[in-house]
Amino acid sequence: MDIFYASIVSLIIFVVSFSIYFLSYKSQSAVGGKLPPGRTGWPLIGESIQFLATGWKGHPENFIFDRMTKFSPHVFRTSLFLEDVAVFCGSAGNKFLFSNETKLVQAWWPSSVDKVFPSNKNSKIEAIKMRKMLPNFFKPDALHGYVPIMDMLTQKHFQDRWEGKDEIVTYELTKNLTFCLACKIFVSIDEPEWINHLSVSFECIPRGIFSIPIDLPGTPFRRAINAANFIRKELIAIVKRRRSELAQGKASPTQDILSHMLLFSNEDGKFMAETDIADKILGLLIGGHDTASSACAFIVKYLAELPEIYEGVYKEQMEIAKSKAPGELLRWEDLSKMKYSWNVACEVLRLAPPLQGAFREAITDFMYNGYTIPKGWKLYWSANSTHINPEFFPEPQKFDPSRFDGKGPAPYTFVPFGGGPRMCPGKEYARIEVLVFMHHLVTKFKWEKVIPYEQIIVNPMPNPTKGLPIRLYAHNNQS
Ligand SMILES: *[C@@H]1O[C@H](CO)[C@@H](O)[C@H](O)[C@H]1NC(C)=O
Ligand SMILES: *[C@@H]1O[C@H](CO)[C@@H](O)[C@H](O)[C@H]1NC(C)=O
Ligand SMILES: *[C@@H]1O[C@H](CO)[C@@H](O)[C@H](O)[C@H]1NC(C)=O
Repeated sequence: MDIFYASIVSLIIFVVSFSIYFLSYKSQSAVGGKLPPGRTGWPLIGESIQFLATGWKGHPENFIFDRMTKFSPHVFRTSLFLEDVAVFCGSAGNKFLFSNETKLVQAWWPSSVDKVFPSNKNSKIEAIKMRKMLPNFFKPDALHGYVPIMDMLTQKHFQDRWEGKDEIVTYELTKNLTFCLACKIFVSIDEPEWINHLSVSFECIPRGIFSIPIDLPGTPFRRAINAANFIRKELIAIVKRRRSELAQGKASPTQDILSHMLLFSNEDGKFMAETDIADKILGLLIGGHDTASSACAFIVKYLAELPEIYEGVYKEQMEIAKSKAPGELLRWEDLSKMKYSWNVACEVLRLAPPLQGAFREAITDFMYNGYTIPKGWKLYWSANSTHINPEFFPEPQKFDPSRFDGKGPAPYTFVPFGGGPRMCPGKEYARIEVLVFMHHLVTKFKWEKVIPYEQIIVNPMPNPTKGLPIRLYAHNNQS
């Protein structure tokens, strides 16, 4: 899923200065017109070191804000990753890139990502058609029916992994939960052995792409490629089995995303190939669980730090819990009552966006803000250029869920899911997952952080370095 590729791309920038890409540096061609202001830094490595250094200091966003101040608040030029890059800033930059998808710009990710996910090499046209189909699987009404299933699995997760424990490591468990949910909802798999078996391989992938992209035996990069191939094979077997079960009437056409993909044709009446389905699901499994597990972990972090916000969420969720008969599962209508909780989740996504930003590639020369952007340049938008910009969010570091009351933030300023045609199709899915998680979390527990000032790193999701260990206190008046 794009959200995943995009995060990987942001991550790769951190290692680029050590990468073998140096060797393949191409000199840039001269183009007419005024290029955006900015610096291209050192030959070969560009400004990668500066980019790295702000990250090491814990404030990667400074790289962007320094240059917005120095050069232009709209767009500046840099050189990262051996590519000419124009960084688009602010809501106007987001709007321009999101609205001009396929007209002026298209998605772009570096060749190391292509190696792990070769499906990206599929013809562009096919990929675009695929993208048009995907939102149908994630339409809110298609997802209604999954709420009770997600609730059941989340309850079981809390029973098995949280209840009766004094201390837990949040990020490990949220990863566990979101991966189980993704396996169940996307491909109807809930055998713990299979899930554990697969999750080991899944762990290799981000780690491998985070490493130096040298494809030799024993390197983490090679391990990631092998892991992706292994998972792809498993998934193809599942796809084949499902196809025959559907033919024999042994599986339901609506039971999960896999059935949808097998049964729905695109606008030309063509069905997706089995390998394409497997690749798509691989992307969804990765994207659907890494980002959501980061979001859930940060909700735990902020609620631990902000008792008055916790109280608000607790009150709202207890109202809903009390309205349910014993054992009755959550339903779609219950989620629509979780307004304050969702505002809190949005504020968490604003301050710790799982997707930091993403690249596009210019498919033609065009003008932006009076500057020429030559064809082939890479364009970058970052969530932080608006999320923590006082122009759009006054006192940006203040945690204030009321920002999302009423109409909420101005268009194109709050972009945790990207936007435009490439907007993360899993947004609604993420909303259900996060709200159901919050419901059980606060109705069952209070908690405090074990490490008061745990460092946060962004690699590629924001991530507490020790996984956010917390001490749990079960509410004793459980009804
Ligand atoms: C975005 O801003 C948040 C909050 O200041 C920070 O923790 C995070 O590292 C920033 N991310 C990037 C990529 O600048
Ligand atoms: C898309 O690109 C065109 C051509 O450069 C530009 O005029 C238009 O304003 C862009 N769309 C948005 C919403 O910015
Ligand atoms: C859940 O966590 C355990 C240990 O923390 C790990 O062994 C297992 O692979 C995880 N499962 C998933 C699905 O992430």
